[in-house]
Amino acid sequence: MGWSYHNPVRVEFAVGAFARVAAAIAGRPWALVTYPMDLFRELGARLGRDAGPPVATIDDVAANPDFADLGAACRRFGAARPAAGVIVALGGGSVIDAAKVVAASGGDFDRVRAHLLDGAALDERRILPVLAVPTTAGTGSEVTSWATVWDTAGGRKHSLAHPRLYPEAAIVDPALTLAAPRGLTLATGLDALSHALESLWNRNANPVSAELAVAAAREVLAVLPRLLQRPDDIALRTRQAQAALFAGLAFSNTKTALAHNISYDITLARGTPHGIACSFCLPQVMRWAIGGDAACDARLAAIFGADLAAGADRLDAFLRDLGVATDPAAHGLDAAAWSRLIAKASAGERGRNFIGRHDLAAD
Ligand SMILES: NC(=O)c1ccc[n+]([C@@H]2O[C@H](COP(=O)([O-])OP(=O)(O)OC[C@H]3O[C@@H](n4cnc5c(N)ncnc54)[C@H](O)[C@@H]3O)[C@@H](O)[C@H]2O)c1
Ligand SMILES: [Fe+2]
Repeated sequence: MGWSYHNPVRVEFAVGAFARVAAAIAGRPWALVTYPMDLFRELGARLGRDAGPPVATIDDVAANPDFADLGAACRRFGAARPAAGVIVALGGGSVIDAAKVVAASGGDFDRVRAHLLDGAALDERRILPVLAVPTTAGTGSEVTSWATVWDTAGGRKHSLAHPRLYPEAAIVDPALTLAAPRGLTLATGLDALSHALESLWNRNANPVSAELAVAAAREVLAVLPRLLQRPDDIALRTRQAQAALFAGLAFSNTKTALAHNISYDITLARGTPHGIACSFCLPQVMRWAIGGDAACDARLAAIFGADLAAGADRLDAFLRDLGVATDPAAHGLDAAAWSRLIAKASAGERGRNFIGRHDLAAD
């Protein structure tokens, strides 16, 4: 059977790669999107000294970009004179996804909202390039063509997707993740593991995505516990950043699968960090995946060893040792709520990517 793999993002990966962002701006008027944190404001100021001041600064991105906040961000961006020609996203998944929304909005969030809610076409000529500079090692958003947009008040999560939303470049500097506290390092590290595994038990897997995913999963399993013990170790930060990037390159071609579809309602209901919500159920989802596809089984064996059932148990222990409860009840789901969520998640777009047994999944 034939296959294809495509990812157009130029990747620059090095400790100290932040110094290359000014060259990547290449003299274009630029807008900065980042968090309201001194660390990142200072980095933005440093970039301003190298590349000239930004024409717009959106420095109030909160975790999980929401309908409620994106209107003001897009307006501020639209008011810039001269207009920006490129957007620098300096932050984790929330910042990179917010930057993609801003890039697609032409300064008016209602256009993106209408696209997400009613399918109105985006004006693709107006979608601006994004330079993604991740400060977390997890989401892979620096190499994907979509953004998660949250409508917490409406109880929904949307996916903004367009081929022109692949960042122009991903400039990955593992040193930017050094300040990440334990909870963020843990959640983002597990998000990367989830991306790797979800791209394997996936109908869209191809040999390139699978090689990247196996390498990424093995690396996260080896590195993350040690990194949580030694968060200042730049060599471990570098390995984790590369693993997250590989997982991103893998699922950029496959999208995610059942565990991610399970996660969204949990984050909406309880504010559970994305990386925890999409990883606590991985052992259970793995048990459902085993036997669903011979190629997937072989790839899981390359990560967990030939006895896949024992591998799922070890994954369970790995998560619990890191302090992540793998029981749905710990995430607010009794048996009935868990069954309902599995049925809903299996029927959704991402859930239908899953190669495992949906009939079992709905048990
Ligand atoms: N587009 C995609 O392909 C994709 C994939 C997975 C997840 N996501 C989305 O990404 C979001 C989660 O992103 P995330 O996990 O990277 O976290 P985040 O961007 O939400 O960041 C969480 C908090 O961590 C802090 N922070 C970030 N970097 C830091 C650093 N280096 N040092 C200290 N503090 C720092 C910030 O204050 C921020 O509020 C979710 O909304 C999720 O849905 C998108
Ligand atoms: Fe994710």
